[in-house]
Amino acid sequence: MTENLIIFNARLVTPQGFSARKGKEMGELWIMDNATIEVTDGLITYVGPNRGEERDGYYQHYWHYNARGRCVLPGFVDSHTHFVFGGERAEEFGWRLRGDSYMDIMRRGGGIVSTVKATRACNHIQLRTHAETLLKRMSQMGVTTVEGKSGYGLDKNTELEMLRVMRSLNHDEHRRVDIVPTFLGAHAVPDEYRGRTDDYVDFLIREVMPQVREHGLAEFCDVFCEEGVFSIEQSRRLLTAARDMGFGLKLHADEIVPLGGAELAAELEAVSADHLLHASDAGIHALAEQGTVATLLPLTAFALREPYARGREMIDAGCAVALATDLNPGSCFSGSIPLTFALACIYMHLSIEEAITALTLNGAAALGRADRIGSIEVGKQGDMVVLNTDNYHFLTYYIGMNCVYTTIKGGVIYPNA
Ligand code: NIG
Ligand code: FE
Repeated sequence: MTENLIIFNARLVTPQGFSARKGKEMGELWIMDNATIEVTDGLITYVGPNRGEERDGYYQHYWHYNARGRCVLPGFVDSHTHFVFGGERAEEFGWRLRGDSYMDIMRRGGGIVSTVKATRACNHIQLRTHAETLLKRMSQMGVTTVEGKSGYGLDKNTELEMLRVMRSLNHDEHRRVDIVPTFLGAHAVPDEYRGRTDDYVDFLIREVMPQVREHGLAEFCDVFCEEGVFSIEQSRRLLTAARDMGFGLKLHADEIVPLGGAELAAELEAVSADHLLHASDAGIHALAEQGTVATLLPLTAFALREPYARGREMIDAGCAVALATDLNPGSCFSGSIPLTFALACIYMHLSIEEAITALTLNGAAALGRADRIGSIEVGKQGDMVVLNTDNYHFLTYYIGMNCVYTTIKGGVIYPNA
């Protein structure tokens, strides 16, 4: 659904551009008081000073929104999540609090593979209903586009089913959040292939990925490239095949140990390299050079008690940094945009302006959509966030608390109750 909408008296706060902002460009925002934003049939058709036309009947076919005293930003883009899954792993969280590591739990058959069992046991409606609940919460925190990964099926039927759930949510005319689907069949090695990781990679390349492409079910292909999961060589093989099939590439890189995932992402010209907690200096420079977006997920570092990724250094090295939540049932059961802002600024030393760019335009770039979303500019989708304050510093200052007053999707207004 799209609408005609005129917002006036806004304090406009937005990055500008149709591609990722790199390095110090990330801190440059366009800020304007008494701004008007016009949305026609869901697309932005004017951004600039108030013109007074809202008073004289010119806008009789538009919804009117007086944003006096409020900041208006682009809708947030959460460019890395695993929001479709069955079951939960609260017990595992308890084990981690007692000292077990994420990888210890995975090695003894828990972790991702335990969510795989629960997901395989769900039907389409169960998966869809649960995912829809999470999407609604994301929308209330200002998210208007989310990336969603498969990876809890690890067999052909369930992987395709997860992607079909995302497709069906995307077809809902009243959806508040657009979904960008990613194929993550290489998320873990399923029990059926235990000890035969190369055979599993072959199976994905020969039997699953062609079907995903044929049915247009995913735009991107991702791999959990990690010690004891998929090696650099296996990841390179799978992603090279994916590129040949027409997928855009993403990579879970250098999350737990430094393997050279950032370097691999740059070598393969991936659209993004994600996590990067242990990325090397050479890896960071390779990402900056190549223009691969460095997607940082501070909630996961927080939840796993791991050191934060070197966000400040990445920006200073000229990287385009995006921020995302990594919402998933295991390493990080949180889709909190407010806490993401706070951790990024407090612990990764981003400025608030850089964090805004990272959650809007650079998130869009990490999904190959910077030409359509991620800033408030003519020609882009009318996806916006209205804050309950005229001071955008509240996005981080108000720690972990939501200051989103209203989310606007394609010109349609969704007030927070
Ligand atoms: O991004 N590390 C791999 N994938 C997810 C975790 C998924 C899970 O634990 O269920 C991540 O952290
Ligand atoms: Fe992830």
